[in-house]
Amino acid sequence: MEIRVKSQLGGDGPEKIVVEKLVQSFDALTVIDRISLKVAEGEFLAIVGPSGCGKSTLLRVLAGLVKPTAGRVRIDGKDVNGPNRRHSLVFQEHALFPWRTVFQNVALGLEIERQSHEQIRQRVTELLALVGLDQFPGYYPHQLSGGMRQRAALARVLAVDPDVLLLDEPFGALDAMTRLTLQDELLRIFLNSGKTVILVTHDVEEALFLADRVIIMSTVPGRIREVIPVTEKRPRDRGSANLAGLKRTVLGILGLEPVIGNVRVPETNFSI
Ligand SMILES: Nc1ncnc2c1ncn2[C@@H]1O[C@H](COP(=O)(O)OP(=O)(O)OP(=O)(O)O)[C@@H](O)[C@H]1O
Ligand SMILES: [Mg+2]
Repeated sequence: MEIRVKSQLGGDGPEKIVVEKLVQSFDALTVIDRISLKVAEGEFLAIVGPSGCGKSTLLRVLAGLVKPTAGRVRIDGKDVNGPNRRHSLVFQEHALFPWRTVFQNVALGLEIERQSHEQIRQRVTELLALVGLDQFPGYYPHQLSGGMRQRAALARVLAVDPDVLLLDEPFGALDAMTRLTLQDELLRIFLNSGKTVILVTHDVEEALFLADRVIIMSTVPGRIREVIPVTEKRPRDRGSANLAGLKRTVLGILGLEPVIGNVRVPETNFSI
């Protein structure tokens, strides 16, 4: 039976990702403390929170790269027990293979899928144009800027067309103009593909421009502190009064702006 969860979730699809009382500890340090979360199919969720509060760890658990200390993570109703190319993670630190060119890095997943030489050439050429790297297919990662490496990493993940995209600050090292362009591209991909996206970002405006819901995490041990639904229709006006108001609310909860309404704001170490 399909469970419709529109009332709780930002998207209107069935449940795609279910996190139940997730705990993640490293030795004595509890990084994630009983997080429960549901993400609808086709939902765009953004996660913001102080540095070190467990955002990347949460994405690693969702990607099956870290086994949770306690609790459960299910995607499409199945327990996540290991990495799966349907649920791809773009790492905070890009993780390109240094011995492969940009073209070869982006082609990697397609080679594993044993696609034909021509199919790979077409798809990689398309993706490199999409992320603005069409002039650099033969470059090695050490010959690229940080932003170019991030764009190559994004193209590599998009190549295998995963239905869950886990993005860990994918635009963190980009200049402002490229960042806005890639946000627009990501939005277009999201709207045209029905993918479920979880984006970790320190950029509150980016979160509000893109997401159906913004999750605000607490300082470590990471818990969900607040969930802010963003109901404005897309494409959103970056300068709208509504988004500006939501930004003040989010920053207020993060401790970066004066207290809004009756929300009590403890000190945090959040950095942008
Ligand atoms: N494999 C590991 N072994 C030990 N400790 C770890 C490991 N991975 C993460 N941690 C610790 O977990 C905490 C959370 O790290 P994480 O990378 O999830 O934070 P984050 O919220 O992504 O921070 P940032 O915003 O700076 O990227 C940190 O204290 C980190 O040292
Ligand atoms: Mg991180």
